[in-house]
Amino acid sequence: MVQGGRSRTLLRIPHPMRGLVFSGIQPTSGIHLGNYLGAIRHWVRLQDSYDCIYCIVDQHALTTVHDPEAMRANTREVAAALLACGIDPQRSILFVQSHVAAHAQLAWVFNCVTPLGWLNRMTQFKEKAGKDRENAPVGLYAYPVLQAADILVYKATHVPVGEDQKQHLELARDIAGAFNRRFGEGFFPLPEPMILGEATRVMSLRDGTKKMSKSDPSDQSRINLTDDAEAIATKIRRAKSDSIEGVWFDEQNRPEASNLLTIYAALADRPRAEVEAEFRGTLFSTFKTRLAELCVEKLAPINAEMRGLLANPAHIDRVLADGAERARAIAEPILAEVYDRVGFLRL
Ligand code: TRP
Repeated sequence: MVQGGRSRTLLRIPHPMRGLVFSGIQPTSGIHLGNYLGAIRHWVRLQDSYDCIYCIVDQHALTTVHDPEAMRANTREVAAALLACGIDPQRSILFVQSHVAAHAQLAWVFNCVTPLGWLNRMTQFKEKAGKDRENAPVGLYAYPVLQAADILVYKATHVPVGEDQKQHLELARDIAGAFNRRFGEGFFPLPEPMILGEATRVMSLRDGTKKMSKSDPSDQSRINLTDDAEAIATKIRRAKSDSIEGVWFDEQNRPEASNLLTIYAALADRPRAEVEAEFRGTLFSTFKTRLAELCVEKLAPINAEMRGLLANPAHIDRVLADGAERARAIAEPILAEVYDRVGFLRL
């Protein structure tokens, strides 16, 4: 299945000691600074030390999104955002989940080795299903099983995720273990979570106690990767602050100031304590001006790149088709071995 001429780093067989990273992101519109600092920028950096597979998980999105046109547009938008931020489709594999059938195929096998009791403990299902659990789709319940299949169909070893996905990752390890016990010790690796560090939690610009989110009704609460320089600067200038002069980190008493400091440190790629020492005695308005400049400097090029990509959807589609082909070349042989082990007749 591996097409010689098209093979890239990943198929030219990685370092034996080097792990394989897999992560997924849902195709939602409005990728924002929180997504960038919390996840995407780490994904970009991991490319230097690992072979990386990054997946736009449209099948997971189907558990909550019901507008087909929006799903298609968001899939391209997220692909453009990832490429603009520096995911390099030559070094890494970037593709869309529904283009590689092996994910759903392995998920079915995993559905058959996962006890209901394990899924009943998943807190994200409880949150998302809300009170009306009778009407929640089965897909929402089985969501973490598909997530386990995403990772294990490549035998990925490292999974960068935020805090909120820790429980799903533990489940993926448990499912790998359950499969191995029944069908062959050591077949699947137990994937390691890489819990993403500082600045994972970027908070709303209007309320420092709430996470920056695309579902916040106020666009002023977030910086979108599609915002131009002027919009970015205005949002930072208008960001909520307290009336205390000077800038220092105190999440309890100064959530907004703390959030802006965190953003500054993450964008400048400097330790927070160092940034704090620099701005401790600075007027808040001066700090905001500096932060606005930094945001524009770091995000305007991403914004420009993203617009260019979105103007050429055929190019995005070509990148995704190539990624899917390379993903299939890894996943299909692993799925075939799973099918053999569970006893499906091979013709
Ligand atoms: N559930 C993850 C999220 O909402 C997305 C995801 C799907 C994922 N499959 C994955 C993350 C596999 C890591 C590995 O953020």
